Amino acid sequence: MILSSLVHIIWYVGFGQSTVLNGTRSSSATSYLGPQFINRPNLHVLLHAHVTRILSTAKNLTFRGVELSQDSGATVHTVSATKEVILSAGSIATPQILMNSGIGDRKTLTNLGIQTVHHLPSVGQNLTEQPLLSYNWVVTANDTEEEATRNVTLAAEQLKQWNDTRSGPLVDAPGLNLGWFRLPANASIFEEFEDPSPGPNTAHIEIQFVNGGFTPENPPPNLIGTNPTLLCPTSRGFVTLNTSNPFNHPIINLNLVGTEFDLFAMREGIRNTRRFMASPSFDGFIVSSTINATTDDELDEYIKANVGVAEHPTGTAMMTSRDADWGVVDPDLKVKGVRGLRVVDASVLPFVPAGHTQVPTYIIAERAADLIKTTWD
Ligand SMILES: *[C@@H]1O[C@H](CO)[C@@H](O)[C@H](O)[C@H]1NC(C)=O
Ligand SMILES: *[C@@H]1O[C@H](CO)[C@@H](O)[C@H](O)[C@H]1NC(C)=O
Ligand SMILES: *[C@@H]1O[C@H](CO)[C@@H](O)[C@H](O)[C@H]1NC(C)=O
Ligand SMILES: *[C@@H]1O[C@H](CO)[C@@H](O)[C@H](O)[C@H]1NC(C)=O
Ligand SMILES: *[C@@H]1O[C@H](CO)[C@@H](O)[C@H](O)[C@H]1NC(C)=O
Ligand SMILES: *[C@@H]1O[C@H](CO)[C@@H](O)[C@H](O)[C@H]1NC(C)=O
Ligand SMILES: *[C@@H]1O[C@H](CO)[C@@H](O)[C@H](O)[C@H]1NC(C)=O
Ligand SMILES: *[C@@H]1O[C@H](CO)[C@@H](O)[C@H](O)[C@H]1NC(C)=O
Ligand SMILES: *[C@@H]1O[C@H](CO)[C@@H](O)[C@H](O)[C@H]1NC(C)=O
Repeated sequence: MILSSLVHIIWYVGFGQSTVLNGTRSSSATSYLGPQFINRPNLHVLLHAHVTRILSTAKNLTFRGVELSQDSGATVHTVSATKEVILSAGSIATPQILMNSGIGDRKTLTNLGIQTVHHLPSVGQNLTEQPLLSYNWVVTANDTEEEATRNVTLAAEQLKQWNDTRSGPLVDAPGLNLGWFRLPANASIFEEFEDPSPGPNTAHIEIQFVNGGFTPENPPPNLIGTNPTLLCPTSRGFVTLNTSNPFNHPIINLNLVGTEFDLFAMREGIRNTRRFMASPSFDGFIVSSTINATTDDELDEYIKANVGVAEHPTGTAMMTSRDADWGVVDPDLKVKGVRGLRVVDASVLPFVPAGHTQVPTYIIAERAADLIKTTWD
């Protein structure tokens, strides 16, 4: 639906789509490991098992062993695969486990005192995350999420309604509505930088409309959120190890809004949201907002100090063509230069999709299942 056209920016606004079944979030855990699957004889789930390393059984770089601990390293077990090992630990933990296993940049590993099993410099590099800014408006409405945080009777009623009938305000996803727009083709930034979006019909910015928000005030006023998110950032960060102890947290550098393009796009995200909220439809509805900054410098300062994440990290084990001398996995999701090891998670995406990552990740997983079945049939 085209809701509004302001200052040559066309917004597309619609309902966000969520994987919700009967008022309850449906996830890969409920849909692939639910009661009807968990008892399959060929499926074993080890709880509280922290994978520390993937091991090659011989000096020929064939990976067959998975080292894990269920007691923070007091005892360590090794599980052996007969066919292959699939690593699906996500964009942060996948490169962490690879580096713990000696697969990564030789110089980095050597400095940490980890023996390099296979030199693969792209591991953990090119971390891509979408910057999201929380932009909240105090509103005159009295039916935002804050109402239930101020009124325990109402909160109990809402919980009971959800519990009894799986209906009511608690079934709503936070971003119930999403708005999308592109930077105008004549935006000054494109004189200097190439458009990083995948194509002319893809949005640069998503606005997540939320029926509630964040404020330090307690009790909070009624708020709505209109959170600008940059869908195609050009900044790249990295994941690396801090120590050779696999139980230590890795170092995560998101490098949010680390480029001029990303800052420009976030500024325009704020300015267009402001124009949108100034339209007559909101007359009498808005009391104040959490962002007052107006000049480029003020906006940049505000963005750098307050930017958050969409929680869509990708790229740390990116897929490249079979003959590319960089990247981490090949188009069959196999780790380059070794045998018996595939990565199946969002880390293989070479670019963050200009949207959300849940569905693309399931698509990779379904495709991987077919590739694996084809290999071993
Ligand atoms: C690598 O070593 C393993 C274990 O010794 C052996 O089963 C496998 O055939 C070897 N693979 C290659 C390609 O040499
Ligand atoms: C990061 O990605 C770019 C392409 O977007 C590529 O040219 C570069 O080699 C990658 N860096 C590493 C360390 O893999
Ligand atoms: C909420 O707003 C509606 C419409 O303005 C009004 O009728 C109602 O009394 C208000 N409720 C509370 C609890 O303030
Ligand atoms: C709190 O919620 C209850 C249940 O909806 C409602 O009856 C009551 O008026 C609310 N209290 C206030 C102060 O708004
Ligand atoms: C939810 O419903 C179950 C019965 O279906 C009941 O045992 C439980 O107390 C209810 N919880 C709440 C918070 O209403
Ligand atoms: C949906 O949830 C309600 C409340 O728990 C339950 O009574 C109903 O059977 C569920 N419906 C389906 C289709 O699962
Ligand atoms: C872009 O084009 C529109 C007219 O289509 C014009 O109003 C606007 O000022 C132009 N912006 C820039 C930055 O040139
Ligand atoms: C890295 O390790 C050092 C020493 O153990 C510790 O002080 C520091 O907080 C760690 N950094 C991170 C990002 O975890
Ligand atoms: C924005 O400006 C108004 C009016 O000057 C002020 O009351 C409010 O505290 C400011 N808000 C922020 C987040 O700085």
